[in-house]
Formats: sequence, C-alpha cells, structure tokens
Amino acid sequence: MSDRYAVIGNPVSHSQSPLIHAAFARQTGQDIRYDRLLAPLDGFEDTVRRFFHEGGHGLNVTVPFKREAWDLVDRCEGGALVAEAVNTIKREGGELVGYNTDGTGLVTDLQRNLGITVSGRRVLLMGAGGASHGVLQPLLECRPALLVVANRTPERAGSLVRHFHKFAALAVQGLVAKPYDALAGSQFDLVINATSAGLDGAMPPLPDDLFAPGALAYDMMYGRETAFLQFARVRGAACADGLGMLVEQAAESFRIWRGVRPQTAPVIAQLRGGA
Ligand code: ATR
Repeated sequence: MSDRYAVIGNPVSHSQSPLIHAAFARQTGQDIRYDRLLAPLDGFEDTVRRFFHEGGHGLNVTVPFKREAWDLVDRCEGGALVAEAVNTIKREGGELVGYNTDGTGLVTDLQRNLGITVSGRRVLLMGAGGASHGVLQPLLECRPALLVVANRTPERAGSLVRHFHKFAALAVQGLVAKPYDALAGSQFDLVINATSAGLDGAMPPLPDDLFAPGALAYDMMYGRETAFLQFARVRGAACADGLGMLVEQAAESFRIWRGVRPQTAPVIAQLRGGA
C-alpha cells in the first residue's frame, strides 16, 4: 500500500497540493498517496489523530489550522518553533514532529526562481498574521538591511517584531514595526504582501512612491492579479505572485517526508500552463 499524506484545512477543496505532490512523486519515483482532508473548525485535533492512527505518514496544514498544529505536535524542528506555526507534520516513530516550510518556500522562490538578492536590501513585509509569522525568520536569515513590518492593526506588527527580537540569533538592527501611514517617504527594494486583503479585492493603504527603482512586489496569494500587484505594476515595480512559493514550500515538505528534493521548475510551469 502507498504511504499516505494529505493536506488538512477548512476549506481545502481549492488546494493545489495534491496535484503538486503527485507530480513530485512521479518525478522522483516515490510511491505515495496524497489527499485533501477537510477538518471541522472545532475538530482539527481529532481529525489529525485519526489520520495518524489509521497509518498516515504526514500532513500539510493550511488555513486556519497552522497555529493549532503548532500546539498539537510533540516537538518542532527548524523555524516552526519561532514561527509558532506549523505547516508540515511528519510522524517519526511515535512522535508528531512539526515543521514550517513556508518561509523557506518564499526565500527559495525569491532567490532561486526570481533571482532576487534579499541580503542588504530594504524589505517591507505587510501583515502580521499567520502568514507573516511563518516567513519572518527565513527572511531575517537573509540579512536584509532593513525589514519593516507594517500592519493595519499596528499593535499586532509591534508584538510580532518584539517576539522575533527575543531570539538573539535573529536580532536584526533594522527589524521594525510601522503603521502604514508612517511609510510615506520610505522606499523599498522588496515589498511582500502577506495580508489577506486580496481575498476581498482590497489592499493595504500604501504611498505612491513606495517602490525603489528595480523593486519587486511579491504577493503571497496566487491565481489572480491582486489589487496590490495592480497598484505595483502601474508604478513600475516588477511583480510576482505566490505560486512559486506554494510549489517551493511543497518541495521542502516532500524532502522532509521522503528524503529527496524534487525539481520545482517543471511543476511551476505545469501549474502556470494550466492556470
Ligand atoms: P493569515 O494567517 O493569512 O496571516 P490572519 O492571521 O487573519 O491571516 O491575518 C491577516 C492579515 O491581513 C492581518 O495582518 C490583517 O491585518 P489586521 O491585523 O489589522 O487584521 C491583514 N489584512 C486583512 N485585510 C486587510 C486589509 N483590507 N487591509 C490591510 N490589511 C489587511
């Protein structure tokens, strides 16, 4: 019987992960089965325990359960501990081990696929929810010159920044929280949208002159051009959506589970072609 994996979320029917992991499995000759698993909003833990009790090998965790997954796992590896969010669970012996591959996925997409250098650059991260938590550590490890976290509710950005300042190894002089209205006059080389504003066709309130020459606007959402990317495009910034990040985080999960890292470029091309 094939080893069993799934993506768990609510909703989960839109998830592209089964497609991506099926492509990885074909490419690497791994015998796995990967499904979508809908958990009731009040039944995440029961659903996870049942999956592993029935012999499941690993789970990807998506909205809105990444935080609950962090609570549930027996221990965390890598960035999941600091992020306080888990998107990948692996059964190791009798233990459930939590990982977070979102940040690695973002940084790999930026640096390897899009050819962006984060080191020494001025970076603006918009949003202070789960998505920002997941990517902040890998971004800091790239040593940007400045990393500003902006959020509609400024207290949440402040508390996110304080949380990361507590980890000495991550301490970056230039990690600061700001409300959007304090961005006027600042310019950034990389602007990342980790808010959920695009779901409602909205975008954070940004000043017109935010983008430095040659800047990249990156939206973690994929599958449509968000209001943020439209705003950035007409102001001359290069634009990227989050499809590459989605595939890269999946490849990292696959590596954690199966010990082999698949090629991502053909899968990104396949998904773009089918979009
Ligand atoms: P996720 O796990 O996807 O990050 P979340 O924890 O609900 O989801 O966080 C959503 C983020 O998008 C928050 O930073 C939210 O700002 P608030 O903290 O002020 O709520 C941000 N967001 C959502 N809609 C927004 C909008 N229209 N404009 C600006 N920010 C928005």
